[in-house]
Amino acid sequence: MASLPYIVGNWKMNGTRAMLNEARAIDRAAARLPRVQVAVAPPATLIYRTREAVELIGVGGQDCHVKESGAFTGDISAPMLKDAGADFTIVGHSERRTLHGETDEVVRTKAETAFSAGLATIVCVGEIEAERDAGNAEAVVGAQVEGSVPRLEGAVDKLTVAYEPVWAIGTGRVPSVEDVAAMHKAIRAKLVTIYGDAGAQVRILYGGSVKADNAAELLSIPEVGGALVGGASLTAESFLAIVGAA
Ligand code: G3P
Repeated sequence: MASLPYIVGNWKMNGTRAMLNEARAIDRAAARLPRVQVAVAPPATLIYRTREAVELIGVGGQDCHVKESGAFTGDISAPMLKDAGADFTIVGHSERRTLHGETDEVVRTKAETAFSAGLATIVCVGEIEAERDAGNAEAVVGAQVEGSVPRLEGAVDKLTVAYEPVWAIGTGRVPSVEDVAAMHKAIRAKLVTIYGDAGAQVRILYGGSVKADNAAELLSIPEVGGALVGGASLTAESFLAIVGAA
């Protein structure tokens, strides 16, 4: 598995300028934790300011458009994220898939557009509860990985995959250690099938109700290369407790 544990805070549609104080506090603490890679994905309105406010941590977008520019009112393109100071962008979050109807093909195109703009990508996948209950979780997630990851030459080197079971997001529920381990192993196998040896180096994050009290256990699971954190990333205190666990 590749390099340092990677802990990413996804602020979702939260945060005004006051949140920059949290970003600064996270950045200061990250300087004392050289063995963890830390990043935040603020709302687009704060990307530039966050980039200016921090020195060490990564700053990313939460989504990008499939196109680089054009008549798409209200949307934000990957080159714009890059220009605002982003290092990476999340694509295919379940909230985008569910609330904006994004298909695997759309997610893959976004990931490729982001890569072409010079951004690393975090591609999210995850099953809904009915799919897990029916015993289909690995098949569903495997198909999402297959359909959603970028295939452009070199894109694998800037790819992270985040496994976020939809039923665990914001609910306080997390899968068992065994289930997380099995899913991450299955995702790893799929990535190796797609990319060959390079697929063995892709970091696979876990996301979904990661908190200070479950982070150490989740992060110790084989093939869990870090965490994508929602609610608990909104204050420096709760986010840093997770970073500390890594
Ligand atoms: O992208 C992170 C996310 O969906 C998990 O959210 O609030 O369950 O940590 P949360």
